[in-house]
Amino acid sequence: MNTMLEIKELCVDFNDKNILRGVNLTIQAGEVHAIMGPNGSGKSTLVNLLAGRAGYQVTAGQVLFQGEDLLPMQPEERAKAGIFLGFQYPVEIPGISNALFMKTALNAQRRHQHLAEMEAMDFRSHTRKMAKSLGLEDGLLLRPVNVGFSGGEKKRNELFQMMILQPCLAILDEIDSGLDIDALVTVASGINALRTPQRSILMVTHYQRLLNDVVPDRVHVMMDGRIVLTGSKDLAMELEEKGYGWLAGAGQ
Ligand SMILES: Nc1ncnc2c1ncn2[C@@H]1O[C@H](COP(=O)(O)OP(=O)(O)OP(=O)(O)O)[C@@H](O)[C@H]1O
Ligand SMILES: [Mg+2]
Repeated sequence: MNTMLEIKELCVDFNDKNILRGVNLTIQAGEVHAIMGPNGSGKSTLVNLLAGRAGYQVTAGQVLFQGEDLLPMQPEERAKAGIFLGFQYPVEIPGISNALFMKTALNAQRRHQHLAEMEAMDFRSHTRKMAKSLGLEDGLLLRPVNVGFSGGEKKRNELFQMMILQPCLAILDEIDSGLDIDALVTVASGINALRTPQRSILMVTHYQRLLNDVVPDRVHVMMDGRIVLTGSKDLAMELEEKGYGWLAGAGQ
């Protein structure tokens, strides 16, 4: 089995505050992992750091992506290498249409892969079916990225981007929050359709519900900047019943 991601004893500060305090996590190619944990425990910090968001200080540890040292890589290099992050709070980009934004991203990737760029017409026919499968109306592709989108539309748009870019490592930060019941099912089947033996998926979620539909290989609990417990999908059920209090002090 090929190792997709290996995080070793990662410690990260923000403004001199310790946020991640020794994270260890290994994801093999083809696996789906979920991270759960209380608000403020460091889940988004971890995934933002993997995507290359600036402003964090790595004080210790190492991250290997497909065996390569990830931390020195620029965010664009990480994206081209196949890392995709679906944001907890998707960013609005006024003045740039969703379709143009995604065509530009896809063509940057295609250039990197030495493939011919896709023309607007081809891009539209390539993506129309994907958007439809996620219940995204055609009109949303022509509007500025995320501007005025409902909460659920923003989340579906993150998954739409992931479908277009077909990353090796897809990271989804609370893709399920704010989705109505039917949209959750749609998004879950969209994620399942992206499961392949080559692709790994890391999902941050607060709810066991998503994990019923997208059954993870591993569930991790993050508390106080560490992964304090790892288990199977049943761990999510146990957390839903018991909350996090019983884990206080675990992993110290
Ligand atoms: N850019 C930032 N500016 C200020 N504080 C930050 C920043 N990023 C992270 N933090 C702090 O780091 C801690 C962890 O935040 P993070 O967003 O990683 O938590 P989380 O586990 O994703 O929580 P939630 O479940 O609420 O999304 C919090 O105390 C947060 O205030
Ligand atoms: Mg978060």
